[in-house]
Amino acid sequence: MAVVVNPGLDRSGTQAFPPLSTLGYHQCRWNYNDQEDVKAVDQGFDEYDIPLDFIWLDIEHTDGKRYFTWDPQKFPQPKEMLQGLMEKRRKMVTIVDPHIKVDSGYRIHNEIRSKNLYVKNKDGADYEGWCWPGNAGYPDFTNPEMRTWWASQFAYDQYKDRNILKWEYQIRTRERERELFVPYSSGQGSMENLYTWNDMNEPSVFNGPEVTTHKDALFGRWENRDVHNLYGLYVHMATAEGLIQRSGGKERPFVLSRAFFAGSQRYGAIWTGDNSAEWGHLKISIPMCLSLGLVGISFCGADVGGFFKHPSAELLVRWYQAGAYQPFFRSHAHLDTPRREPWLFGPGNTALIREVIRQRYRLLPYWYQAFYNAYRTGQPVMRALWVEYPEDPATFAIENEYLIGQDLLVHPVTDEGAKSVTAYLPGKEEVWYDVHTFQKHEGAQNLHIPVTMSSIPVFQRGGSIISRKDRIRRSSSCMDDDPYTLYVALSAQGTAEGELYIDDFHTFNFEKEKQFIHRQLSFSDNVLTSRNLAPDSKFTTAAWIEKVIIIGATRPSSVSLKAADGAESAVEFDFDSEASVLTMHKPGVNAGTDWTVMLQ
Ligand code: NOJ
Repeated sequence: MAVVVNPGLDRSGTQAFPPLSTLGYHQCRWNYNDQEDVKAVDQGFDEYDIPLDFIWLDIEHTDGKRYFTWDPQKFPQPKEMLQGLMEKRRKMVTIVDPHIKVDSGYRIHNEIRSKNLYVKNKDGADYEGWCWPGNAGYPDFTNPEMRTWWASQFAYDQYKDRNILKWEYQIRTRERERELFVPYSSGQGSMENLYTWNDMNEPSVFNGPEVTTHKDALFGRWENRDVHNLYGLYVHMATAEGLIQRSGGKERPFVLSRAFFAGSQRYGAIWTGDNSAEWGHLKISIPMCLSLGLVGISFCGADVGGFFKHPSAELLVRWYQAGAYQPFFRSHAHLDTPRREPWLFGPGNTALIREVIRQRYRLLPYWYQAFYNAYRTGQPVMRALWVEYPEDPATFAIENEYLIGQDLLVHPVTDEGAKSVTAYLPGKEEVWYDVHTFQKHEGAQNLHIPVTMSSIPVFQRGGSIISRKDRIRRSSSCMDDDPYTLYVALSAQGTAEGELYIDDFHTFNFEKEKQFIHRQLSFSDNVLTSRNLAPDSKFTTAAWIEKVIIIGATRPSSVSLKAADGAESAVEFDFDSEASVLTMHKPGVNAGTDWTVMLQ
């Protein structure tokens, strides 16, 4: 019986259900230099056949650290760049920090000041601190009026490609046109595939005591000492609201935040902050994300590769292998570090990184379903073993392996030069199958696993059914209608249960209009059935069932399929007697319909 994690979630809320694409791979660094650089990185992923959903731009993309603007020299045509990514069904994230450059030529600053919405000193004057832009004001996000105004700035017609006062803009443009022949443009600088990163929202103040605002800085009538830990949550909240509003309430937002508080899970993802390219930091990313999951924040990840310092190829590969099995999967690196796109460490390492990113994409249906469950119940996506096996004290101190949902157990390799790892497979009644070889192991035991650089020990629980998409494409959106493969891992009793969840993968229609498919998959007595758990939903999909793989099976003499209309047909199959794996080819049924497969 699993532990119900954090019963207080009925007050702080459950995990927001993220768009599917945000569970794909994110490529970030401080910074991608200009539009050409973005294009080259984007093309690199195609050239090396590595899937990618998001490219990220850090603070250098702005016009002098004025958020909601683009550097007109480096990013003269942001919309064109976004359009280019859109055509590849890829997306972008830009950073929008809550310290606002004190500059009378900056519209965002002028408006916040004129609305009197900055945090104050105890004498009532606007508080100013030093941050990336130099002297900066800090919007009072605890004030709902500030949040509403901030949210409105994400509207497509507000987030311009240039966002400075007109007179200054014209002077600058003329100067730059002479210098650079930048064509005049006052167009839109944002579109639907641009999402947001809120950093430094503790708030971070370089010259402040404890690197933040004074304890007596005023947020309305509250002092920093009272509301400090809430500030980041409010920034995240206002930004997520802005992304929802700009789509007229239709699209699910994606916002990554560095600072967070109880309830931040309702607004998006968080990451574990500035780590280093060190083995110890790779290791600790696991308990950090497990702890966050326990307090309700499931959408968590660590900078893959380490933010500071330069990882060895071995560390980088191991970090990708761990990160691909953590909820938020983004590589990131400090401005002063050498470039480290996946193809810069030699063909062997590129192949290893490609393979693990592809493993992530195959499992996206399972990740998505785990997030759907976190949204519904608050149960963490990435779970400590004791959450599922509370009766087994051997699980209590384990923090180098974990479960994704209930059914996948992951033991990343986090030691330099490792030749083996010992994974604990819990549950006296359980059997576990190696997802790569289908080899069966009994629980509960410490399993000694020899490893090479390509090893990522992952096991599927016997008794579970996991849906995957095995045709990998350029990005997750390119795979929307692709067929599913069901991995049915049999329990010791020869049974298995699972779910399949499908919707449009990006809007709120699943919530507002109940537009989704939710099916119960069950295997017992040699019969596999798909049963509707959402009879009121009218959602349909083009996706179909391409293969069913039964792990731990015995050889049947025939396999037949009964479709929703009652029609019966024979299904082609093959059986690997050494691995005890039955593969059914092309049952071909639509993934959203009732069907039954019978083994004789
Ligand atoms: C600090 C953040 O933690 C880091 O991820 C980011 O790259 C820098 N700020 C620059 O924006």
